Amino acid sequence: MKFFIDTANLAQIQEAHDLGVLDGVTTNPSLMAKEGITGQDNVIKHYLAICDIVGDLPVSAEVIATTYDEIIAEGEALAKLHSSIVVKVPMIKDGVKAIKYFTQNGIKTNCTLVFSAGQALLAAKAGATYVSPFVGRLDDISTDGLQLIEDIRLIFDNYAYETQILAASVRTPMHIINCAKMGSDVITAPLSAITALLKHPLTDSGLATFLADHAKAAGK
Ligand code: E4P
Repeated sequence: MKFFIDTANLAQIQEAHDLGVLDGVTTNPSLMAKEGITGQDNVIKHYLAICDIVGDLPVSAEVIATTYDEIIAEGEALAKLHSSIVVKVPMIKDGVKAIKYFTQNGIKTNCTLVFSAGQALLAAKAGATYVSPFVGRLDDISTDGLQLIEDIRLIFDNYAYETQILAASVRTPMHIINCAKMGSDVITAPLSAITALLKHPLTDSGLATFLADHAKAAGK
């Protein structure tokens, strides 16, 4: 399963990349705003800075446009910035049409704001490179977000769709583990959820014992 980091914070992207397990980056307008990135020129500079850190790993850059012609224009401009850019398009009617256009023109896409299996099926039929079901936001409204990952996996496998399931709004280490059990192709999560996978109290206490025993045997 691929690990994408879900942030526009350059230090956290660098840290995840240095850890050696990073496969890509996702951003969205809220994450860009959180880093104080405003104005189109700064947004473009920021995408380029992210691409500089991660090299040829995919970086999802979300369009703001919501009408077909504007999504195409904005998406094509984003795709021209860097070969790593994946154009992130919302799951709306004009978005699905735009994904079809981008697919036919060799531009990679990530269909975002997906909350149902039917939406995921439409994105796959339009040829999306990735589809992003939002696990955490479904959990937030007492709906089983992980069940959606399982349902989409079944549907995509039934028809051998090549669209990759990119579990988004993944917020906890258990979300990551359960997405892996369900066969998600990719998860995108904050750095804190990824590094939480490192932690186990028995690892910490076991290491402390090993080091203490080693020091004792060495007469320290
Ligand atoms: C990623 O592509 C999504 O925009 C993101 O995972 C949403 O996460 P949130 O629900 O924690 O804001």
